[in-house]
Amino acid sequence: MTYDEHESDEEVVSPYQVGEDRDVETSLRPKSLTEFVGQVRVRDQLGVVLESAKRRDQAPDHILLSGPPGLGKTSLAFIIALELGASIRVTSGPAIERAGDLAAMLSNLAEGDVLFIDEIHRIARPAEEMLYVAMEDFRVDVVVGKGPGATAIPLDVAPFTLVGATTRSGLLTGPLRDRFGFTAHMDFYSKDELVRVLHRSARLLEIDLTDEGADEIGRRSRGTPRIANRLLRRARDFAQVRANGVLTREVCRAALAVYDIDEIGLDRLDKLVLEALVNGFAGGPVGVSTLAIAVGEESQTIEEVVEPFLVRAGLLARTQRGRIATESAWQHLGLTPPTGR
Ligand SMILES: Nc1ncnc2c1ncn2[C@@H]1O[C@H](COP(=O)(O)OP(=O)(O)OP(=O)(O)O)[C@@H](O)[C@H]1O
Ligand SMILES: [Mg+2]
Repeated sequence: MTYDEHESDEEVVSPYQVGEDRDVETSLRPKSLTEFVGQVRVRDQLGVVLESAKRRDQAPDHILLSGPPGLGKTSLAFIIALELGASIRVTSGPAIERAGDLAAMLSNLAEGDVLFIDEIHRIARPAEEMLYVAMEDFRVDVVVGKGPGATAIPLDVAPFTLVGATTRSGLLTGPLRDRFGFTAHMDFYSKDELVRVLHRSARLLEIDLTDEGADEIGRRSRGTPRIANRLLRRARDFAQVRANGVLTREVCRAALAVYDIDEIGLDRLDKLVLEALVNGFAGGPVGVSTLAIAVGEESQTIEEVVEPFLVRAGLLARTQRGRIATESAWQHLGLTPPTGR
């Protein structure tokens, strides 16, 4: 396959898992806390939680991993089980439609197992209620029969550790959130951390990546290891076809230019949004739905995919009255910001 037969441009810097990510990500997942790059605070705290549980020979508190897509939540969930020497059962919020689905999973757990529920904010309400009883009392109430004759039969659940992952912790109900003993807030990665992720992946995938090349890719990876790994593969494809396979700074630059990714990792849609804001609305404030229409996208895409990075890059601000372009946004587009704002 050549570099231009891959995903569409829009997907190259998507923080979500797309296309071939799934296969390659499994092989790139770090397997221990020491191998896990960055997130120093989370790693230290988690290290203590796991170590003390091991010493007490008990299952650790339930753990919530919260943060934007592609920052390593699933990787951490597997690491937790590995570090504990425990088996892991994997499911996800959307997969648990009925409380009965969850009851079956819970009652099949063995002592010390890790139950990983991805996208836990999407779990159905009745299942959620069952889950928090199980988390606290290690018990599920299975309702037998219907109507006035229905009875709840309590079943014991082996002491387990729930690891929940969510990109939207704000959507969790209070009672569920309160039952996690430890919440890890994952943060975007620095460029240097991404450079380390890139060198590690390059080694595993047997890609010839120079320090300068890693620097170039790291800078454009939007603080997200998943994007870094994807850009690395795109650059590799490019290098195989157009260069001698070595990812130098020049090769990386040329490769990423093909995908319309600029020096700070903005893609075409990010640029469109900024330009609409600056040129179409004099820098705002403008409502997100108006902005979405101006660039022909869904509001949700703008809010969940485009804005978080623009805000973090200091290019856009969300205010009560709407979105505004910052001074840096004007400068990034090569324009002079208006004075007296
Ligand atoms: N700290 C890290 N060190 C090394 N590689 C990492 C790290 N975090 C993430 N990765 C890489 O990024 C990929 C995506 O990470 P992961 O699937 O764990 O993210 P996630 O937070 O679960 O994303 P989502 O919200 O989409 O489920 C992994 O396959 C792994 O290769
Ligand atoms: Mg995940």
